[in-house]
Amino acid sequence: MSPTALLKLDDKEFTLPVIVGTESEKAIDVRGLRDKTGFITFDDGYGNTGSCLSNITFIDGDQGILRYRGYPIEQLAENSNFVETAYLVINGELPTLAQRKQFSAMLTENAPIHSAMEHFFEGFPRDAHPMAILSSMLNSLGCYHPHLASNDHARDLENYYQTAALIISKVRTLAACTYRASRGLPFIYPRRDLPYCENFLHMMFSTQYEPYMAIPEVSAALNLFLLLHADHEQNCSTSTVRMVASSGANLFSSVSAGVSALWGPLHGGANMAVIEMLKSIHAEGDDGTKFIEAAKAGRADKRLMGFGHRVYKNYDPRAKIIKKSFETALAKLKITDDPLLDIAMRLEQAALKDDYFVSRRLYPNVDFYSGLIMRALGIPENMFTVMFAIGRMPGWIANWKETAVNPKGRIYRPRQVYTGAVQRNFVPMNERK
Ligand code: SDX
Repeated sequence: MSPTALLKLDDKEFTLPVIVGTESEKAIDVRGLRDKTGFITFDDGYGNTGSCLSNITFIDGDQGILRYRGYPIEQLAENSNFVETAYLVINGELPTLAQRKQFSAMLTENAPIHSAMEHFFEGFPRDAHPMAILSSMLNSLGCYHPHLASNDHARDLENYYQTAALIISKVRTLAACTYRASRGLPFIYPRRDLPYCENFLHMMFSTQYEPYMAIPEVSAALNLFLLLHADHEQNCSTSTVRMVASSGANLFSSVSAGVSALWGPLHGGANMAVIEMLKSIHAEGDDGTKFIEAAKAGRADKRLMGFGHRVYKNYDPRAKIIKKSFETALAKLKITDDPLLDIAMRLEQAALKDDYFVSRRLYPNVDFYSGLIMRALGIPENMFTVMFAIGRMPGWIANWKETAVNPKGRIYRPRQVYTGAVQRNFVPMNERK
């Protein structure tokens, strides 16, 4: 007997189906609620609302659990890398050796961008934000592959794997070109002999005269950073991708919308906001104590960036992993006297003891350390959220596919509760006050 929920409204009772997931998560299925009762549900911010059934990622926020396709993030961080994890997220299974070689070859083949796209960068102001450029370039990419961006899901799905590899590879090149253009540097073309992260760092930092060869700890830290960001259930940007995909839109335009959502400081922009926060604390000669008091006063402009999470009410498992990698990279890079790092450590220790944060279960999230690690790797601050987008690309792509293949898929069209003016008559200009 499937579980059900009983809803009493006025003097009537309604039985609603209950959905139980493979991890025993339970949901009241309200798809028939309005037809049965005339009522809708209200859940501002969707904190209590499931928008879909998904097989990609599982999070238990209370236990601090994160799994991609059933594999614990700790095991993937220890044994895998970003390219293999990207394959897992977009295809559902870890690749065999042959599959992994083929995927790597597809990423190598797809690394260059069409030479005409290089001219797009000339049109952006030198100080344009890289996230605005990335969103534009990803949508434009579809114009160079119209057969992969037909806006007919059946057709676009025929080439899903090819399109996924193309976007995962080219997003890296587009990011590097964005950085180079912002500094007036010539583009550095991808090499066929370098792995994913090393190739990205090469395109970012090599010069015409001297190739940039990342030390193993730096490329390992970047690999781990991207792996830890590969997917994260129905976060703001992934839900945006699904929203856009639900209209039948192609993969390029859907991930372009994901980039726009990720940009916000409460979401992917937090890694940049953490560094801005640390810099402002340092500039005011504060050791973090004053800032924490201001954050506790609940001032929206004094939030402890990199702390808190809608789902994790325990330590973000990614933050634990990235912190360890960060400390290894720092030791290798011999970075010991970074004042921002000292402030960050003090903020973390203070917040973990302070009742304001403990009572609200505000722990460091992945963004608290990712900004510091990007800074240590020499990635410029305004590129931090672009790095998050590169990491999240496999998750967005897999969620686009789940939306596109759903035979019962419907366009996302939430309802609302109207609270505006009730009906009134038009007022001619001469009678308006
Ligand atoms: C990411 O969803 C995902 O999965 C996202 C992500 C992913 O991988 O996709 O994990 C990536 O976006 C991580 C989050 C990065 N953002 C930040 O670090 C920005 C700072 N954090 C907050 O703005 C906030 O914690 C959110 C946005 C992350 C979560 O906000 P919620 O769940 O809507 O919580 P809330 O705003 O309702 O706050 C609850 C209470 C409030 O106080 P009271 O009204 O109860 O008095 O906690 C307070 C808030 O004022 N609070 C904070 C705080 N976060 C919440 N107070 C100080 N500093 C903070 N960071």
